[in-house]
Amino acid sequence: MDPILIEAAGDSMLQLPMPIPTSMALDQALKRRRSTREFVPDTFSLEALSALLWAACGVNREQQGGRTAPSAHDWKETEVYVVLADAAYRYEPRKHCLFLVKRADLRALTGLQDFVAIAPVNLVYVADFDRMTEADAGDRPFLAGADSAFIAQNVYLHCASAGLATVVRASIDRRALAQALGLRQAQRITLAQTVGYPKP
Ligand SMILES: Cc1cc2nc3c(=O)[nH]c(=O)nc-3n(C[C@H](O)[C@H](O)[C@H](O)COP(=O)(O)O)c2cc1C
Repeated sequence: MDPILIEAAGDSMLQLPMPIPTSMALDQALKRRRSTREFVPDTFSLEALSALLWAACGVNREQQGGRTAPSAHDWKETEVYVVLADAAYRYEPRKHCLFLVKRADLRALTGLQDFVAIAPVNLVYVADFDRMTEADAGDRPFLAGADSAFIAQNVYLHCASAGLATVVRASIDRRALAQALGLRQAQRITLAQTVGYPKP
């Protein structure tokens, strides 16, 4: 991938191409869904990333801004950070674009397993508890965890239908990763998910 960043209002933004849908029947994708922990280190095309992120939590109802994944109270508090070899980005579903977070290879920090450092894509699910103030403090982690899990399952099914390998992960040094991504105290890392090409 050779991303072209556009400077807009002080942010560096990368517009993703229109996502091209995959067309496997749902029951076939469910049959193929599985966790895989071996990846080839090939780069990921922008087209493949676009389809992956749209499936994860892209906008599927333009007028209401509804998304492919449900969200408690429609808070949409869970954001997807996209950690690639060249940089880390934050996915913005409404514009279907990426905002640059940090120009560095943070892949090794996204988990405690070796494969995270060589797989082309690590998604990091980050819940902003400041958007969940209507919920009791004790309920927020459960609701954020549920919302992340829906996104993760969308990614699993997309990967199954697109011939990609993936595994969702909770084993993360959250403090180190939050620091590297420059997260605020209220932004909590729920899960991460590695995506790449399966070993033949
Ligand atoms: C909440 C959650 C956390 C997980 N964390 C990890 C992890 O840190 N590392 C890992 O290799 N797999 C992780 N997994 C994947 C599970 O190990 C996997 O789903 C399980 O072994 C069943 O295999 P399957 O997904 O192929 O059906 C996690 C799964 C879930 C749902």
